[in-house]
Amino acid sequence: MTLQTEQLHPLYAVKISGFDMRQNTSLADIAALKEVLDEYAVCAVPHEVPLTNEEHIGFGALLGPVARKTMPKITGTGARVPHNEIVDQSNLDGDGNIYPDQDKRLAYKRANRLWHTDMSYRSNRATWSLLSAHVCPPEGGETETTDMRAVYDDLPEKMKGRLEGLVAEHCYWHSRLLGGGPEPTPEERASRPPAQHSLVHIHPTSGRKVLYIASHVRSIAGMPDDEAKDLLEELRAIALQPKYVYAYPWNVGDVLIWDNLATMHRGTDFDDQKYVRDMRRVTCREQ
Ligand code: OGA
Ligand code: MN
Repeated sequence: MTLQTEQLHPLYAVKISGFDMRQNTSLADIAALKEVLDEYAVCAVPHEVPLTNEEHIGFGALLGPVARKTMPKITGTGARVPHNEIVDQSNLDGDGNIYPDQDKRLAYKRANRLWHTDMSYRSNRATWSLLSAHVCPPEGGETETTDMRAVYDDLPEKMKGRLEGLVAEHCYWHSRLLGGGPEPTPEERASRPPAQHSLVHIHPTSGRKVLYIASHVRSIAGMPDDEAKDLLEELRAIALQPKYVYAYPWNVGDVLIWDNLATMHRGTDFDDQKYVRDMRRVTCREQ
């Protein structure tokens, strides 16, 4: 089947029309969607009405194995969305109220406003994330993405040579602290240990080379911390040039799918003390 796509950015990102995730669930539909994702890396799928949690999880499972929370990790987190397959990215507590400004759980969520790629701190990383909009703020809160394949392709040959063989350590707590979150407890730290990944990888299905960095990166193996910090800062500045960045303007019912092995992303600012933003994520992972 051929999907109806409209390109959203000169390099990548498309909107698919007429693709209801409740109905387009055949093998051919999924294969067609994966083809689009391999080419464009980011794909918006609008719906009149948001998917239910069950529909959202069900569609994610058609794309690949769905990541599940194994246990509540962040002290004091109540479950507003009672599914281990859904990451609640809202600014709402278990009772549906907006978190107060100083709440530790909100501080951790605000770390999503740093550029990252999902679950890079795990040894089996996120492949596709499917973020579904249930309530959008009237202003702000777009999700920004950047195409890390194009970024790699455009790097000077000298830099490509320098990156060859380098391995980075990704740590969840590193980005939480960068985002202004509190020091994790030893138990929290132990629940999410760091993982190592090559700075450049070959995308498993498109075959393109990708620069794989994120706010989770804490260090580079065998490189002094100062040098690693400078190198990462240089790469980040290259990757965040406007020519690579796309900001998705949300509508309720939209599902935005991004390929974590080909892009970075972040949430952008909105008034999270005034407006509700209810976004829920299902994440596919490597085997
Ligand atoms: C995520 C994420 C950003 C946003 O769900 O993984 O980073 O805009 N979200 O909510
Ligand atoms: Mn994310």
